[in-house]
Amino acid sequence: MRLSINIDHIATLRNARGGTEPDPITAAHIVERASADGIVCHLREDRRHIRDDDVKRLREEISVKLDLEMAATPEIVALALKIKPDLVTLVPEKRKELTTEGGLNVVRLQASLKKVVDRFHDRGIPVSLFVDPKREQLDASRVIGAEMIEIHTGEYAEARSASSRKNRLNQIQQIAMYGKTIGLGVNAGHGLDYENIAPIAATREIEEVSIGHAIIVRAVFVGLEKAVREMVEMVRRGQADER
Ligand code: PXP
Repeated sequence: MRLSINIDHIATLRNARGGTEPDPITAAHIVERASADGIVCHLREDRRHIRDDDVKRLREEISVKLDLEMAATPEIVALALKIKPDLVTLVPEKRKELTTEGGLNVVRLQASLKKVVDRFHDRGIPVSLFVDPKREQLDASRVIGAEMIEIHTGEYAEARSASSRKNRLNQIQQIAMYGKTIGLGVNAGHGLDYENIAPIAATREIEEVSIGHAIIVRAVFVGLEKAVREMVEMVRRGQADER
């Protein structure tokens, strides 16, 4: 199974101070060095984290797969056609949500999504659709010509009881199998972390997972002690030099 890393949170942190650090492209290079298979970023309409220039620089500077997550709105579609990522993943987007809240309703949006999928195909860009684990959404995805779906794993990740988690996992595994049988590539993502990844990673039909939040959270805690120690050292050395 391949692993792609979502680096949106690095841009969130950068934007909090209005400067240039931390640079999401530097983060992407670290992700590459750490042998991940791809970079994912979500160019939202409100540009709350990743910005147009970040996507352009990622396209120019990284050599692993670039997956651009995006809503199928005219402005973002036009940009994506210009930048030409290796894959676009279409997601629903609400202005007020903290993160993507659910899968695309491909059944309902079939006609309009088909036009968008066709435009990407004309430019040689494959398309993945982020959907809830429901057969009818996969059928509709196949009908409009998407190469892949990304199964929304949020409900599995957030399940409170062991039995509910098991049911959600079962549903994801059935849907992944179904996706394969109807000729779709199958990715998965949302809310995956160090505790819940194992059974997903063991699901053969899932080709790739996309993970962001849990990895950035872990990076903070894995790196915080080192960062503090380095600064303690500098501050104390400064005091010693003064004497
Ligand atoms: N896949 C999609 C379609 C998403 O919208 C997100 C969140 O940006 C992810 C995967 C990654 O989710 P998380 O940050 O919870 O790992």
